[in-house]
Amino acid sequence: MDAKRPSDSTTLLSHLMGITDANSAGNVHGGTVMKLVDEAAALAAIKHSGGRVVTAAMDRMTFLVPINIGDVLSLCATVNAAWRTSMEVGVRVQAENPRTGETRHTNTAYLTMVALDDDGSPAHVPPIEAHTPEEQRRRREAELRRANRLAERSEIVAHREREGEAV
Ligand SMILES: CC(C)(COP(=O)(O)OP(=O)(O)OC[C@H]1O[C@@H](n2cnc3c(N)ncnc32)[C@H](O)[C@@H]1OP(=O)(O)O)[C@@H](O)C(=O)NCCC(=O)NCCS
Repeated sequence: MDAKRPSDSTTLLSHLMGITDANSAGNVHGGTVMKLVDEAAALAAIKHSGGRVVTAAMDRMTFLVPINIGDVLSLCATVNAAWRTSMEVGVRVQAENPRTGETRHTNTAYLTMVALDDDGSPAHVPPIEAHTPEEQRRRREAELRRANRLAERSEIVAHREREGEAV
């Protein structure tokens, strides 16, 4: 399987935040942003894997500043690292006030996407080829996050087994 560059997967989505995206405080609902983040990440993972994908996990989603109705949300998603069947996708979200041109970094999220074959079983994905110092840094940091995720998962499984709970 040929390696792919992170830039091969880069996906840009833009979305105007309308009244149906509002929460009761009048700002954009966090769930609206999470859905768009998931869509952008899935597209990046599809470009990398060349097949269908599912979201296995979303973590480290930060909400830095509120997003206003009328802002244009821009999402940039890129595969940071690829393993056997899973990929980590980083998504950066910015909001622009189209009247003033002011742009704010509003969110960052990391998602684990898993490629599936036609039978719905996890499928192998191409390795990632990180060339630039920034691509290499992102891949290193993705490895750290994966180690933490997997360690947490096995700790929970071990704890449930000790407690005699269903795994
Ligand atoms: C994601 C899913 C396919 C993994 O299935 P599984 O039986 O655990 O398969 P495996 O044990 O072979 O794991 C497959 C990969 O997923 C990764 N993975 C599984 N659960 C994970 C989790 N909670 N966090 C991070 N990675 C995870 C594994 O590390 C493995 O990666 P690797 O092959 O690169 O090492 C399965 O849990 C699933 O279908 N979940 C529901 C997905 C879904 O409906 N998403 C929302 C709609 S898209």
